[in-house]
Amino acid sequence: MSTPKDTNKSWGGRFSEATDAFVARFTASVDFDKRLYRQDIRGSIAHARMLASVGVLTEDELNSIVGGLEEVQNAIESGTFEWSQALEDVHMNIEARLTDRIGITGKKLHTGRSRNDQVATDIRLWLRDEIELIGLELGRLQEGLLGLAEREADTIMPGFTHLQTAQPVTFGHHLLAWFEMLERDYGRLMDCRKRLNRSPLGAAALAGTTYPIDRHYTASLLDFDGPTENSLDSVSDRDFAIEFCAFASLLMTHLSRASEELILWTSAQFGFIDLPDRFCTGSSIMPQKKNPDVPELVRGKTGRVNGHLISLLTLMKSQPLAYNKDNQEDKEPLFDAVDTVKDCLRAFADMVPAIKVQDEKMREAARRGFSTATDLADYLVRKGIAFRDAHEIVGNAVAYGIRHNKDLADMSLQELQEFCADIQKDVFNVLTLEGSVAARDHFGGTAPAQVRAAVIRGRERLAQRALPVD
Ligand code: ARG
Repeated sequence: MSTPKDTNKSWGGRFSEATDAFVARFTASVDFDKRLYRQDIRGSIAHARMLASVGVLTEDELNSIVGGLEEVQNAIESGTFEWSQALEDVHMNIEARLTDRIGITGKKLHTGRSRNDQVATDIRLWLRDEIELIGLELGRLQEGLLGLAEREADTIMPGFTHLQTAQPVTFGHHLLAWFEMLERDYGRLMDCRKRLNRSPLGAAALAGTTYPIDRHYTASLLDFDGPTENSLDSVSDRDFAIEFCAFASLLMTHLSRASEELILWTSAQFGFIDLPDRFCTGSSIMPQKKNPDVPELVRGKTGRVNGHLISLLTLMKSQPLAYNKDNQEDKEPLFDAVDTVKDCLRAFADMVPAIKVQDEKMREAARRGFSTATDLADYLVRKGIAFRDAHEIVGNAVAYGIRHNKDLADMSLQELQEFCADIQKDVFNVLTLEGSVAARDHFGGTAPAQVRAAVIRGRERLAQRALPVD
């Protein structure tokens, strides 16, 4: 039984029956790739200008195509455009509408081009725009961290290893550790942008085209750094999407680590910080609850972004050259990774400056747990005792402190001298929390003066960022 031929299709010529309705739905991508409409139109205009410049289109044809595409864009943006699943994807929807509007000239736009190089161009243009927005939002979060670090340069908290109290650090210093993680993420983002910024347009289906096209011209019209080198690679390469997702996964990993700390710190057991009510929600059964939902969700969303990275790696694994329909599956993971990263960065950038610090709680926690034990050992070394012996002496003092529920700074000079006769009154300078952090006064150290200097350097680094403007 034959079904009537579908005349709508731009590739219908060699077919004798219409596409099965389910197959049409199964193979269509318009529901999600319509998101690329702006880049698709921009790419088409550049392609048409190039065709006119090499004499393949007349000036009149070019003007009519450009005018028609602008009308299509207006229709899409004003909500009057009707997307059709029968037309498969964003590219054929736009081209069909263009032809409806301007007639036969519309059909000339696709000269010397294929949807394969078209879609490769569209995603690169789209991702490049998104990278710019993500870079700005990342910078806003980093700026917020610098502001909070400056405010909290003197605030003392316990520093942890193995989540056990280790040595006192300043809260500003802790925040600057987050700043550094994000700084590396920014570097990776820019690296990704640099490699994606080449124009695949002109590769056509896979082998290039017989028309005398000027790929350098389209590349420059679209603000690419130049055309891609190899036509087969141009239509099949999705490395840039994978690189972006790798960046996104690491960024989310960093945000999840910060989230985890925020969640711990807001608990009654820590009580180090308060998050403003507007970033929290309550419980429908326990009236006392105030839950840190925003950092919890950011932590949770890390999973889906990691998943998108694996999806794309698996999508590309073993794919033969050149374009395969598999590649249509690149969009949803990439789109969702971009959306998720943007939302999470926004949540963090809004939340960080609003963190309320309970400095007494932090200080109290640092005071407990013998966090200045290393300082006492270093003090004994300065008095001429070998570090291993000093370690043993302080260990004994800590054991005594545990038995008598006394921190080192709470012991009397006499008590301390029981462990080592060389201990003198000046020991109390090193046993204080302020003395401990101030003593770590070198590049990258936790001393308040170093934190302030690092904040200034951080601001300089942010100021040097200039995203290439399109
Ligand atoms: N919708 C397709 C995609 O996203 C566009 C390219 C289609 N090319 C083809 N030869 N069927 O990859």
